[in-house]
Amino acid sequence: MNDQPTTKWIGQPLDRVDGPAKVTGAATYSADYRGDQQAAIGFIVEATIGSGKVSQIETADAEAADGVHLVMTHQNAPEQAPFGDNADAGRFGMSHAVLQNDEVRYYGAPVAFIVADTLEQARYAAGLIKVTYQADDSVFDAFEHEEDAFAPDSLDGAEEADVDKGDFDAIFAESAETLDATFHTAAQHAAAMEPHATVAEWDGDKLTVHIAVQILSSARKAFANTLKIDPANVRIVTPFVGGGFGSKLGVHSEGVLAALAARKLQRPVRIAQTRRHVFSNGPHRTNHRQRIRLGASADGKLLSVAHETLGAMSRDYPFAEAAASPTMASYAAEAMKIRHRVVAANIPHVDSMRAPGEAIGTLTYESAIDELAVQCGIDPLEFRLKNEPKQEPASGKEFSTRTLARCLREGAELFGWEKGPVEPGALREGRLLIGRGLAAAIRPNMMQPAEAAAELDRDGRLTVELDMTDIGTGTYTILTQIAAETLGLDPDAIAVRLGDTNYPKTCGSGGSFGAGSTGTAVSKACASIRDTIIERAARLDSDWAGVNSGDLRIENGNAVVAGRSLALGAILDAIGGDSFKGKGQVEPGKAHEDLAQYSYGGVFAEVSVNADTGEIRVRRLAGAFDAGRILNEKTARSQLMGGMIFGLGAALMEESLMDMRFGSFMNRDLAEYHIAVNRDVPRLEVKMLDTFDQASNPLGSKGIGELGICGTGPAIANAVYAATGYRTRKFPIHLEDLLDHLPAL
Ligand code: MOS
Repeated sequence: MNDQPTTKWIGQPLDRVDGPAKVTGAATYSADYRGDQQAAIGFIVEATIGSGKVSQIETADAEAADGVHLVMTHQNAPEQAPFGDNADAGRFGMSHAVLQNDEVRYYGAPVAFIVADTLEQARYAAGLIKVTYQADDSVFDAFEHEEDAFAPDSLDGAEEADVDKGDFDAIFAESAETLDATFHTAAQHAAAMEPHATVAEWDGDKLTVHIAVQILSSARKAFANTLKIDPANVRIVTPFVGGGFGSKLGVHSEGVLAALAARKLQRPVRIAQTRRHVFSNGPHRTNHRQRIRLGASADGKLLSVAHETLGAMSRDYPFAEAAASPTMASYAAEAMKIRHRVVAANIPHVDSMRAPGEAIGTLTYESAIDELAVQCGIDPLEFRLKNEPKQEPASGKEFSTRTLARCLREGAELFGWEKGPVEPGALREGRLLIGRGLAAAIRPNMMQPAEAAAELDRDGRLTVELDMTDIGTGTYTILTQIAAETLGLDPDAIAVRLGDTNYPKTCGSGGSFGAGSTGTAVSKACASIRDTIIERAARLDSDWAGVNSGDLRIENGNAVVAGRSLALGAILDAIGGDSFKGKGQVEPGKAHEDLAQYSYGGVFAEVSVNADTGEIRVRRLAGAFDAGRILNEKTARSQLMGGMIFGLGAALMEESLMDMRFGSFMNRDLAEYHIAVNRDVPRLEVKMLDTFDQASNPLGSKGIGELGICGTGPAIANAVYAATGYRTRKFPIHLEDLLDHLPAL
């Protein structure tokens, strides 16, 4: 099952093939696009109420301001399909109408869009708009309106909001050791370096949108559905994306505003959201309350598990996060009760953020498991190993591979985990309390439909095209490696082209499914070229009959295999063509339905807590991870490290705070929204198991981008407990939460 094929290129720590373009500025991100015609610049005027109506809007001063070409409000915005129309296209493809009427759905929603020659002019004019509102009664705080909670139809990361296995209440009541703990996780914003940005331009009926998105095909649908135009007339171009983390899975208001304004003005319109705008017109992860109840036998066998979550769903925007997803997959238990509930609220769009479900689910569940282990007097590593399931606990499905225990053991070795419970406060360096903690990481492995086209010319140069994105993860590089491997070709002879809906359709980047899905499509496209070459070569030279296609190499314009060589040109001349073309296509099959597929990790942390101030510093982080076959040792490691840093931020820093009087986020910039910086991050030790999951895809790889964030936060939280003897059950953990609970030294 875990046999690794021998490879030349796949797995190698190849430098990013797009690295030189990025560091020299040659890589064009969406807002960098420059066409023939100079673009006008857009700026969003945001609503300053959370819910209600615009009763009056005065635009005359703005319209008269220098350089202003357009002031678009609900009074003059072109007709669009109502927001949410064409719901079948999903939340990323449905209508994303803006300025459609006088209603305000959330604080910061656009009430006007100014387009001027320069950003300064547009921004100045935005300040001249006067809006009078009629605010109405709104729901901003989901927890205050718990009585209105409902089970969401659409849940990211789980099929059903409710899962019941066995009789939880009865088994919990009889369990020797029980825990009933309520956790709070914070709202967060993906703080991608590149903000959401768009340049829209029209050529007659045809719209081209240069937009920062992760998935091109659904963006195309969103523009077509919103503007009520034929998708064939929408082209999305996104060669580079400066970080997504889920926030660019779909299109946002700036994209639609740019498209509307560009059509009105008959000239390209460019807008990059400001960082403040990103906090209202970009999506966010909402805060959750999670109640976890666990029951175990006296000797530490987990018997009963209940995980009940409550969070907000933005009104009219169908997304909810399956925070109990890791609970359903991590440890064996006879009885399980899962409830996901949401309350509709007038808040900016709640949507996917890196590892939706698992990130905040492992944060709480792995904290609760740790707490129960301590209560049972069992080493938390032992406790986890002891409760390792044979099948997926909630569903009873077989696992494609199950290496959680191996990850925990290898992580323990990497970190130097010492067996046996340590009394909180027992480890000290001067007035620093030292604590060590661990947690499991688990993340479903997915596959999505993808197609790719490849073309090999007579000189042996290969071009690969697909509408996949590289959101900083290394897609260009790994697809180059996969093509090189399949055709026995040097990476220098390969050009991978991404980010254009004119290329074959893929799933884009999201859910950690991008590399495996699109990599398989590319490998198949190249394999089909390989098969054509061998088949045609055999017609010219019978020596080629029966050649093993895996042995073929393309060298200096020749097809080469075991002592035989034929010029590609000679084969092409015989066929009468200029190049070899191949297509590859993949979609999830039975192995994705029948088997429970996950990526795994075991993460370990050491922290110090200042006994006087409560200041927490992470001193060490080590993780062992299994994401199947590693496609590129360097980009994979970077993904895991980035995820771990994200997890550190979730444990100690990242928190979007809402003013519940208005439903507005208060800390809308990177001075006030704290992300982990270099000073916060210790040396990261990452070990990759590099296995092969044949059920996942023919490459054997599994999702890695969202794995590192899972497990890291709770490992840190468990280390804080080990240091102090106190659990905040609230994330991020602030020093002031600890101050009253620090042991007296
Ligand atoms: Mo991910 S949150 O699906 O980009």
